[in-house]
Amino acid sequence: QLNSLAVAAGLKYFGTAVGESAVSSDSAYMAIVNNKNELGQLVAENGQKWDATEPSRGTFSYTQGDIVPKVAKANGQYLRCHTLVWYSQLPNWVSSGSWTRATLQSVIETHISNVMGHYIGQCYAWDVVNEAIADDGTWRDSVFYKTFGTDYLALAFNAAKKADANTKLYYNDYNLEYNGAKTDRAVELVGIVKKAGAPIDGVGFQGHLIVGSTPSRSSLTTVLKRFTALNVEVAYTELDIRHSSLPASASALVTQGNDFASVVGSCVDTTGCVGVTVWGFTDKYSWVPNTFSGAGDALIYDKNFAKKAAWTSISSVL
Ligand code: XIL
Repeated sequence: QLNSLAVAAGLKYFGTAVGESAVSSDSAYMAIVNNKNELGQLVAENGQKWDATEPSRGTFSYTQGDIVPKVAKANGQYLRCHTLVWYSQLPNWVSSGSWTRATLQSVIETHISNVMGHYIGQCYAWDVVNEAIADDGTWRDSVFYKTFGTDYLALAFNAAKKADANTKLYYNDYNLEYNGAKTDRAVELVGIVKKAGAPIDGVGFQGHLIVGSTPSRSSLTTVLKRFTALNVEVAYTELDIRHSSLPASASALVTQGNDFASVVGSCVDTTGCVGVTVWGFTDKYSWVPNTFSGAGDALIYDKNFAKKAAWTSISSVL
């Protein structure tokens, strides 16, 4: 079982994102979620995001956010918490507000102290800032960047430390795996936060990858080590590897397995890579088909909860 194998291989966990709606509706799904030997860590797919937790200014709600943490707690699984400062799933009152630095700073600090305070002691790690960099390596032009330039980064990490001193504070992003301009900028981001005297403990590689276009195990290891060299830990936080067209051929399923093995293997090869989280585990539920037109079947169990070649390939590198 994957989490047991991962722990034996020196990782802290192998885990998954859990969609809030499946928790109450799908018992076959929950049987796998509740198996700690298979999945040693959970993360809420949507419930802890800003639009769910503070839909209007100063009004906090944890109905959605509490669903997955409750499951992790009952099962004794690690919980990753996701996410605090992100341009997406951000309510209009934040994204469309016209802010001075002082007011937006207070809005961010209030959000972080309330949400992290609610989950204090429960989160192994928090994705404090998510997706601050555009794919071409420029800073993403969010309301946060527009208002502060890069100063919001240190501000957010400082607020997070104040709210919960005992959780790992992460920067999390996608397409860092390719070691291009976006990766360079993420290296710079870690430096900016540290230079400002703010705490940052980890960098999350989302790992939304494509079958046949996933970097090799050694290339991925090289990228991970660029970050661990900065004295931050790393993790794959949202791994899925999508087929660009469906149905996947038998050989495409094998390639998918090899790609998953490269990713998980690179974590095993990197001291300071703490774990791997898949962004869902069954093709029955995944954000991929809704987001990447025509693509899908990006996970390690099929729609009927049968283990795919990808599952076996992962087990072989653990
Ligand atoms: C996705 C969820 O899976 C979807 O259900 C939701 O509609 C949109 O967000 N990067 C992230 C995740 O950090 O929070 C996103 O999750 C996927 C991309």
